[in-house]
Amino acid sequence: MQIFTLKIVEIRKETSDTITLCFKQPGLKKVRYLAGQYLTLIFRINGRRYIRPYSFSSAPNVDKHLEVTIKKVPNGIVSNHIHDIVKVDDSIETMSPMGNFIIPDNKDYKTIFLWGAGSGITPLMSIAKSSLSSNPDINVNLIYGNRNKENTIFKRDINVLQEKFTTFKPYHFYTQLSVKEQLPNIVQGRINPEKVLEIIDQNSLNNSIHFICGPTGLKESVKEILLLYSIEPENIFYEDFELVKDPKDFEDIETRNINLFFNGFEHKLEIPKGKSILEVGLDAGLELPYSCQTGNCNTCKGKLKDGLMRMIGLKDIRNDLSKDEFLLCCSHPLNNEVYIEI
Ligand SMILES: Cc1cc2nc3c(=O)[nH]c(=O)nc-3n(C[C@H](O)[C@H](O)[C@H](O)COP(=O)(O)OP(=O)(O)OC[C@H]3O[C@@H](n4cnc5c(N)ncnc54)[C@H](O)[C@@H]3O)c2cc1C
Ligand code: FES
Repeated sequence: MQIFTLKIVEIRKETSDTITLCFKQPGLKKVRYLAGQYLTLIFRINGRRYIRPYSFSSAPNVDKHLEVTIKKVPNGIVSNHIHDIVKVDDSIETMSPMGNFIIPDNKDYKTIFLWGAGSGITPLMSIAKSSLSSNPDINVNLIYGNRNKENTIFKRDINVLQEKFTTFKPYHFYTQLSVKEQLPNIVQGRINPEKVLEIIDQNSLNNSIHFICGPTGLKESVKEILLLYSIEPENIFYEDFELVKDPKDFEDIETRNINLFFNGFEHKLEIPKGKSILEVGLDAGLELPYSCQTGNCNTCKGKLKDGLMRMIGLKDIRNDLSKDEFLLCCSHPLNNEVYIEI
């Protein structure tokens, strides 16, 4: 894994709780990325190492700087550290860009639909800018949900794109909006896919691809209606900012003791029900490799040498992992014989 040290050249305030960090591209070893991918930032806070992925809000073929946009999470360790401590001229360690929430190059499509809410706009903005600048004839529809206008990240940039490209159509959904403000592309309430289908040109669904980034409820309702409209599942892409866990999947999981072999040492860990092996290892002070914590990047991959484990929360069936390979960020032991190496 290549590590970059990137210098912050600008910090932009987007809304009252969201900022954009703009990093200078290194002179020699340029950071190459695709629209929709993420940059993993590494921090040391009170002596402990923290790693967090942030989707690029910049687009590689459009923006000079590498940009990520961070919303403050209440009591969140890293997002608050970035807001309160990080400043211009600081140098931050990052991993190489990763992620597969990108425009596929093997598809024939005429319209891109971007569905997002709150900070889920970041990769969608990158994809919108990238697509509009390289393929201005492809239609890009952005369906974007927020509390109100003040809360809307990139409101200004979205207006600029709308003025520049006739093929770009944003639709704003506001939960706090006075009814008199309503215009055809401004709707009161949460994103409601049925309502969207009433206001868009339904022909645009033919030959369309869809990107969804936002809370689970949004993802599920959008997916459901798209499938009803015969959009093929392989034309629907989504990115989760958090691991989605269904409590039902934990019914037969119990607190277990395991052995973890890391960096030449064997560590005995008690894994409480509901916590992943990665979480417990990090809490025990082990500097295990990881990035997304959503079962997407494979950075936390370990090899099971003994015992039984299950991965919970993976969004896709993973044919790329062999039977003894497990992603520790979603792994839960099923017995006390687990011996895993990373
Ligand atoms: C692929 C990927 C891309 C991401 N891109 C972005 C991005 O562009 N902008 C951005 O702001 N964040 C993004 N995130 C989320 C980001 O990585 C962190 O998880 C987030 O900043 C919280 O970290 P923290 O250390 O402040 O909170 P933590 O201290 O890790 O968590 C504190 C509490 O907040 C909850 N929590 C964690 N993340 C969120 C969240 N996103 N929303 C609400 N509650 C949360 C946790 O469950 C926990 O209870 C992305 C995550 C992934 C996996
Ligand atoms: S940290 Fe990315 S797959 Fe586990």
